[in-house]
Amino acid sequence: MATTFVTLGTMSRLFTALAIGGVVIAAEVTPAKHNSAVLGLWTAPTEAAARANPLTATTSVVALGRDLFMRDCASCHGERGRADGPLASWLPQKPLDLALPAIQSQTDGVLFWKIAVGRGRMLSTQNTMTDDERWAVVDYVRSLGDQP
Ligand code: HEC
Repeated sequence: MATTFVTLGTMSRLFTALAIGGVVIAAEVTPAKHNSAVLGLWTAPTEAAARANPLTATTSVVALGRDLFMRDCASCHGERGRADGPLASWLPQKPLDLALPAIQSQTDGVLFWKIAVGRGRMLSTQNTMTDDERWAVVDYVRSLGDQP
């Protein structure tokens, strides 16, 4: 009898673990949704939105922005911002294609602020980039809107 109980107890713990494991796996393979469906729209404070980009988007500024984007952003967003980076399919919420009007219609100040603070899986760049580097990344993101 005692053996049976131990066995049942062990079995039920095993099934519980499997069930929890199953839920975790199911959550990971659920097709990614855009975060705004989950977290609500991502809006920047008014003063951040009004902040002007101090850099002119010269070829060298955009090239610097591209280098930084390849270093810190392309793993999720993909080289051209199409949300096709190697980590994109593992994100619980997929980022939007950065070339879309939904992104390109945002002011430089809004993009700068979002890139600075991050949200969800997208980490803050507060300690990894200078302001000028972040503005250069904004200029690179901007250049993606010009591509077909
Ligand atoms: C770990 C993956 C990951 C990395 C790395 C990452 N992002 Fe994101 N990014 C996301 C996700 C996920 C979202 C959607 C966030 C949301 O809507 O809450 C997002 C959203 C955005 C948005 C759009 C915000 C909007 O209005 O919907 C921009 C712009 C952006 N990222 C730029 C960048 C830049 C620039 C970098 C590099 C400095 C970067 N991201 C790095 C995952 C990432």
